Amino acid sequence: MAYITLQEALGEEALITKEPALVSGLADNVEDGGLKAMLGLLATLRAMVWEYYTSHWVVKGFTFYGNHLLFTRLYEQVLEEVDAMAEKIVGVSQGDVTGLNVLSQMDVARSLLASIDNIECRFERGLKLEGMLLDGIVQAKQMVEAAGMLTPGIENMLDDLYDSHEGHVYLIQQTLK
Ligand SMILES: [Fe+2]
Repeated sequence: MAYITLQEALGEEALITKEPALVSGLADNVEDGGLKAMLGLLATLRAMVWEYYTSHWVVKGFTFYGNHLLFTRLYEQVLEEVDAMAEKIVGVSQGDVTGLNVLSQMDVARSLLASIDNIECRFERGLKLEGMLLDGIVQAKQMVEAAGMLTPGIENMLDDLYDSHEGHVYLIQQTLK
């Protein structure tokens, strides 16, 4: 199965291009696009918690204990990010939290996880998800900005998220060397 991007998992409504003129052409639903992008990141982070928790349980071999603990470190950090992202979403949703619907979050998470399901190596799977998230953060920042929702707090959160997941890529890549 081909890997999918976060945009694909979110569906066509969330599509955005890097051309500012085209972004402003989405003015009718650009505000929804900002929120949807954040919900997409939340679903990606939640998919990551499932993935890393499972990796924590199923790794084996003579490097088992180090890898078992590595995945603990990863899922614990992502769990905190899930909470911070969800609370920001509630903050910007102006009382409408329908986007946090569990099943719609699970649908996006499932699409992302299904796209890596053919990969056996738990570290390669993690790297793919991390790549999807990093791409998704860049896209989400553009969409949130286009929606006029990029407060300094949200920008900081997205930048910190990017920084922390570049760190994850480093940790996983070192393990694969
Ligand atoms: Fe455990």
